[in-house]
Amino acid sequence: MEQQDTRIKIAVQKSGRLTEHSIELLVRCGLSYSKGRDQLICYGENMPVDILLVRDDDIPSLVQENTCDLGIVGINIIEECWLSFKDQGESTLFSQVTPLDYGHCRLSFAVPDEVTYTGPQSLEGMRIATTYPRIVSSYLEAQGINGTIVKFSGAVEIAPSLGKADLICDLVSSGETLRAHNLYEAETILESSAALIRTPIEATSQKAEWIQRLLQRIQGVLQVKESKYIMLHAPKSALEEIRALLPGSEAPTIIPLEGCDDKVAVHAVCKENVFWETLEELKEAGASSMLVIPVEKMLA
Ligand code: PRP
Ligand code: ZN
Repeated sequence: MEQQDTRIKIAVQKSGRLTEHSIELLVRCGLSYSKGRDQLICYGENMPVDILLVRDDDIPSLVQENTCDLGIVGINIIEECWLSFKDQGESTLFSQVTPLDYGHCRLSFAVPDEVTYTGPQSLEGMRIATTYPRIVSSYLEAQGINGTIVKFSGAVEIAPSLGKADLICDLVSSGETLRAHNLYEAETILESSAALIRTPIEATSQKAEWIQRLLQRIQGVLQVKESKYIMLHAPKSALEEIRALLPGSEAPTIIPLEGCDDKVAVHAVCKENVFWETLEELKEAGASSMLVIPVEKMLA
């Protein structure tokens, strides 16, 4: 038991849109793990960090009550949970919420194909099936609209065809699920993506150190995701113009080219992605021999 308490527990969705990316994020932070026999815990082998695979809806409470130190969950679920805690008069949910830039999706109203949606007023008097009752009611309230919320715990998209609701409010990513059920996306009320949450309860000093380290590594992984290292040759005369075209780069390294007086080599870390369009503009400005290389690790 004593031993257990020194290990950091991270709650991650068991199976769903965030599972793979979340585990990959932790692996990129240096974690290697082995899966327990029950497949519900990934035991960290080289760090005191274990991943608990759980239902996404359970993640906020697991983290809030400190069963897990950290959790990765959709903003949609955090928001729903936030509203429910607020109703109960609780104010501290998490000590930190860091957006992670994957698992992007939208919480939207979706209506049957044959129904015309002209704006929030179309929701007046309607029965709306959703697994996000609090987000939906607070939206309706803000719009001054009366609607009936029909709480579902899953498979919301079948509610209209079952006659249980007139429309739904659910997560949409590719839109595939809606199309398969003859529904269309009418209005988005929340943009969501994965986020990292941290328990509001202070960790023991032993744990705190590793949590801090992990958080710093996560920041590093997020930073490098968009970062590129770019190398090119530039005519000295066009150096200013070329530097201005490099996206999100600080001072580049300028290196002379052997046996070539009018050109230099430019090396720079770009903190934003380098797109084909940028390379084309650089070429037009006179750059040549361009190479764009992904950055693997970064520590400021
Ligand atoms: C959501 C939503 C739909 C699906 C939409 O479920 O409830 O079923 O994703 O995605 P699509 O637009 O790409 O078809 P999710 O996978 O998040 O599972 P859960 O809501 O049951 O946790
Ligand atoms: Zn869920």
